[in-house]
Amino acid sequence: AKILVLNGPNLNMLGLREPEIYGRETLDDLNAKCVEKAAKLGLEADCRQSNIEGEMVTWIQGARTSHKGIILNAGAYTHTSVALHDALLASELPVIEVHLSNIFGRESFRHHSYISPIAAGVICGFGSLGYDLALEAMAKQVA
Ligand code: DQA
Repeated sequence: AKILVLNGPNLNMLGLREPEIYGRETLDDLNAKCVEKAAKLGLEADCRQSNIEGEMVTWIQGARTSHKGIILNAGAYTHTSVALHDALLASELPVIEVHLSNIFGRESFRHHSYISPIAAGVICGFGSLGYDLALEAMAKQVA
C-alpha cells in the first residue's frame, strides 16, 4: 500500500532551522528513513514536501484514488488551515498527524490543530521517531 508522507511549510529547512527544537537531521535523511521503515512494514512511502498550502490540498485530493493513507506534518498550517482539514475529509483516507516537537509544551498558538479532530491519531514530541511510529500505526490502519 502506498502512503503519502507529507511535510508542510518550512520542513524543507530541517537540519538548519532551530536545530535545538527540530534536530540536526535533514528532510532527505528523514525521508530516507521513512522509505526504509515503510518497506519493512510492506508499505511504500511517497514522501513529499511543500511550502504551498494549495499544492498540499491538491496532493491530498489526488491521494484519494492512488494512496491508502496519509501521514501529515502540516507545520504551521496545522494551526491555521481549514482548507487542509477539508481536503483530508474529502480524501476519505486514514490520517496520522505528526509533529517533531511537542506542540503542547510550546506557545499557546500551537496548542490548537485543525488536523487532530479528523486524524486517526496524533504523535508529537519524539522528533523523527514519530514518523516511524506513524508508519507502524498506519500499517495497522490499512491492514
Ligand atoms: C511542527 C510544529 C509546528 O507548530 C511548527 O509550525 C512547525 C513544525 C513540528 O513538527 O513540530 O513548522 O509541525
